[in-house]
Amino acid sequence: MLEEIKIAPSVLAADFARLGADVADVATADLIHFDVMDGHFVPNISFGPDVLRAVKASTDLPVDVHLMVSNPEVAVRGYLDAGADMVSFHYEAATHAHRIVSYIHDRGAKAAVAINPATPVCLLEPLLGELDMILVMTVDPGFGGQALIESSPRKLRRLRRMCDEHGVNPLIEVDGGITEATAPLVTAAGANVLVSGSAVFGAADRAAAIAALRAAGQSGVSKMA
Ligand code: DX5
Ligand code: ZN
Repeated sequence: MLEEIKIAPSVLAADFARLGADVADVATADLIHFDVMDGHFVPNISFGPDVLRAVKASTDLPVDVHLMVSNPEVAVRGYLDAGADMVSFHYEAATHAHRIVSYIHDRGAKAAVAINPATPVCLLEPLLGELDMILVMTVDPGFGGQALIESSPRKLRRLRRMCDEHGVNPLIEVDGGITEATAPLVTAAGANVLVSGSAVFGAADRAAAIAALRAAGQSGVSKMA
């Protein structure tokens, strides 16, 4: 059976002046990806829990909150209060990662850890059995519209092997530079959730862009080694 590829449009690339309409326009996706940037962990600032509330009110899709913040243990509560269905926090920013994962689960949401391109996958080994998803950044976080870092598929293969060795099967999400051209490269290496900002919201026909990414991702799965 072919693995199902999920598409998560990143609202960072939406038109903030018409956020509700843009979110409604990507209803054929699987998740809404909500990028939180604090101007400290990453140089850019995006939006907070009140905007998440507005996004939740504009969609029936689950919202996947990506916290690019320095103090995830403090920040996470506000996003869960605002209705986050899934929360990713950065391994590099967390002092007590297990505690944050347990807190997210206790609040009834799915928990994920995100890693920057320079962070090795082996650091996640002690957490593997507890994670619903792992977010592998394929660019250095902070901005949309960057090019995928070339070594990303190798890293994804290593992560997939580590999960197999531990008998676990979390979702593996990739974020940054995902287009129709790069989607097959990352799904062939084990990714199954594709975040995409500019390739979806930059397209005139968002439903067509989502379908094209899904097909491109699916074509990579059949090449999976
Ligand atoms: C980058 C963000 C991404 C970003 C992806 O720091 O985490 O979610 O919006 O944008 P594209 O798809 O344009 O690379
Ligand atoms: Zn993101």
